[in-house]
Amino acid sequence: MQKGHSAVVAGLGAWLPPRVVDNDELSRSLDTSDEWIRTRTGIRERRIADADTSTVDLAVQAGGNALRSAGSDVVDALVLATSTADQLCPASAPQVASGLGLSGIAAFDVNAVCSGFLYALATAGGLIAGGIANRVLVIGADVFSRLCDPEDRSTLPIFGDGAGAVVLRAGDADEPGALGPIDLHSDGELADLLIVPAGGARQRVSAEPHDYFLTMQGTTVFRHACARMAESARTVLERAGQDVADVDRFVGHQANLRILQATAKQLGLPEDRVVANIARTGNTSAASIPLALADACEDGSLRPGHRVLMTAFGAGLTWGSTLLTWPDVKPG
Ligand code: UT7
Repeated sequence: MQKGHSAVVAGLGAWLPPRVVDNDELSRSLDTSDEWIRTRTGIRERRIADADTSTVDLAVQAGGNALRSAGSDVVDALVLATSTADQLCPASAPQVASGLGLSGIAAFDVNAVCSGFLYALATAGGLIAGGIANRVLVIGADVFSRLCDPEDRSTLPIFGDGAGAVVLRAGDADEPGALGPIDLHSDGELADLLIVPAGGARQRVSAEPHDYFLTMQGTTVFRHACARMAESARTVLERAGQDVADVDRFVGHQANLRILQATAKQLGLPEDRVVANIARTGNTSAASIPLALADACEDGSLRPGHRVLMTAFGAGLTWGSTLLTWPDVKPG
């Protein structure tokens, strides 16, 4: 990478809506139990956005916190990773930029569902590498509670709402915080495994209300998630000339604690390297990796100098990984 054209993490921000819904509360309206949800997923509670709070609102909060953490609100571009944009059209990123007082900058959405944050990092890194932007705000924000059928126990307990963000600045590849190799993939042949069938351009309306909600073939998705995340993690380690033993913290997409554990096991990573905040957030889709980074910084388990492996998997299907050395950055 040309000197000065690497993307370097300069700020970190998180935001969760205040309303906590624990497993017992869910079990009062759904045929499930705290015991089932905890043992099958590791989730104890999740945050749910109020009816008048949207993805844009969450993204503005997390983005503002990341700008504060970076110590400057100067950015040339905003990339929003989301699959729950406020409207089907237009994208939500320009509204987020305006909400942050940044009207005029380049702003667009990236939709790679739960892998969205990694895809958005790659996109922002490309803007910096190409000399199009010097500083980019990357936000992952989703309100998946809006996509879940309140009567579907196979999805409702899994998901939560939230937003997380980083500021990337142009810098050098050997600086702490510089993004290492990035590995991204997709397989659209398996789109039906995790899908909201109606509401998009192919099927604007449906007589079947359930078609507007997320359907998930959980067990098959689980198997793909473990295999693809491990495969992609190995790819970036190999490209970086590093070994699994070099990884201090594994920050995987928080879809299920058992997926994180199984992936770490496949990689030969000890469990104490696995960052897991899913117990209190659930699966927050594109927000999950930056939220996990922020939580790990707050509780002291992620420290400057740690080698961090980030890996995600989601609907699409999409998956990918990247590496970095954690810089001296704290959540704003
Ligand atoms: O974000 C990116 C993509 N998403 C994921 O990566 C999610 C991947 N999938 C998963 O995390 C898991 O597959 C789930 C947590 C969704 C489900 O766990 P599972 O161990 O695969 O359970 P299952 O769907 O195979 O169901 C096992 C049993 C079934 O009962 P029977 O047929 O054995 O009697 C289900 O009906 O558990 C039952 N079940 C439940 N019971 C109580 C399914 N959901 C629930 C529930 N509460 N919420």
